[in-house]
Amino acid sequence: MTARGSASPIVVGIETSCDETAVAFVRGRELLSDVVASSVNEHARFGGVVPEVASRAHVEALTQTLAAAREQAGLEWSDIDAIAVTAGPGLVGALLVGVSAAQGLALALQRPIYGVNHLAAHVAVDRLVHGELPQPAVALLVSGGHTSLLRVDDVTADVTPLGQTLDDAAGEAFDKVARLLGLPFPGGPSIDARAREGDPVSIDFPRGLTHAGDDERHRHDFSFSGVKTAVSRWIRARERSGEPVPLADVAASFQESVVDVLSAKAIRACRDEGIEHLIVGGGVAANSRLRAVIEHRAYAHGIDVRIPPPSLCTDNGAMVASLGAALVERGRPTSSLGLPADSSLPVTQITLR
Ligand code: KG4
Ligand code: ZN
Repeated sequence: MTARGSASPIVVGIETSCDETAVAFVRGRELLSDVVASSVNEHARFGGVVPEVASRAHVEALTQTLAAAREQAGLEWSDIDAIAVTAGPGLVGALLVGVSAAQGLALALQRPIYGVNHLAAHVAVDRLVHGELPQPAVALLVSGGHTSLLRVDDVTADVTPLGQTLDDAAGEAFDKVARLLGLPFPGGPSIDARAREGDPVSIDFPRGLTHAGDDERHRHDFSFSGVKTAVSRWIRARERSGEPVPLADVAASFQESVVDVLSAKAIRACRDEGIEHLIVGGGVAANSRLRAVIEHRAYAHGIDVRIPPPSLCTDNGAMVASLGAALVERGRPTSSLGLPADSSLPVTQITLR
């Protein structure tokens, strides 16, 4: 039960860990509003997110984003039961903008604050789309900074890492390969679009950590720096030979390598754990080929797969509000009003006190 006596708490979620300033309101599992202001265009010419530019953009956008989300939800500030904010992991200067704003709201409204884990929030967002999360579930978390397989017994309290990337995150690999191909930042959506015109089996790029010895030692781990280097070498060899680089074929073949490994290892983790529910989250879960291949393979193995719509895979406030509402509903402890931000918050720590 909430302070207002309702079983479905109204929670505002604030997300500023990277380049999206995002605010959303939920009532329990119902999404009331979702507003995202991105500074991605300000970073594009640098080919990656510039921390100082991101922090400044959050400061400039947050007040308006909060106001727009509240208005879209048709609520008064006094209607809300709790404030949830991403406390980590992410860029520390960027995180602090959201955390400070959330502290201000909590103080002014005299409501509890929950500093939440961005990675757990990428999983928790699916509650808003497909209903309460199945327990236990395996989660494949694929974003710009993280790639891991998790066993989720309770997204508000009990998340166990099964494996993770040993080098680049999947999204980072998309961004770096896009840069090699001269495609705009962020690379994921650019490669996804170009790959549609290409042949995914035209170039046989390596599948990281899938060969016998490696695969045994690193059963649930990933590595994407090898495929990135292979793409770079392939392009250089092609340029030296004077032949044109077939952009769409390189994009499609690279994407196929990443998608093949992610989907195969995710399905296998479910089978190893004896779990028949897979949740996919994070920006790379917006990838059209990953969505199609995972759904196809999961179906073939009798695994139920949940992937939120693309707009809820890339960073947003709904994910933070969703995890916040789950924390309130399950009576989890709140954070202190003076909670810090932790740029390297581990995935096992779902809230920061
Ligand atoms: O979760 P997210 O929005 O931010 C982080 O928490 O990192 O993920 C951003 C990453 C970027 O690397 C971006 O290129 C990738 O997600 N991404 C995609 C697609 N849309 C975004 N990767 C592949 N295909 C997409 N359609
Ligand atoms: Zn993210």
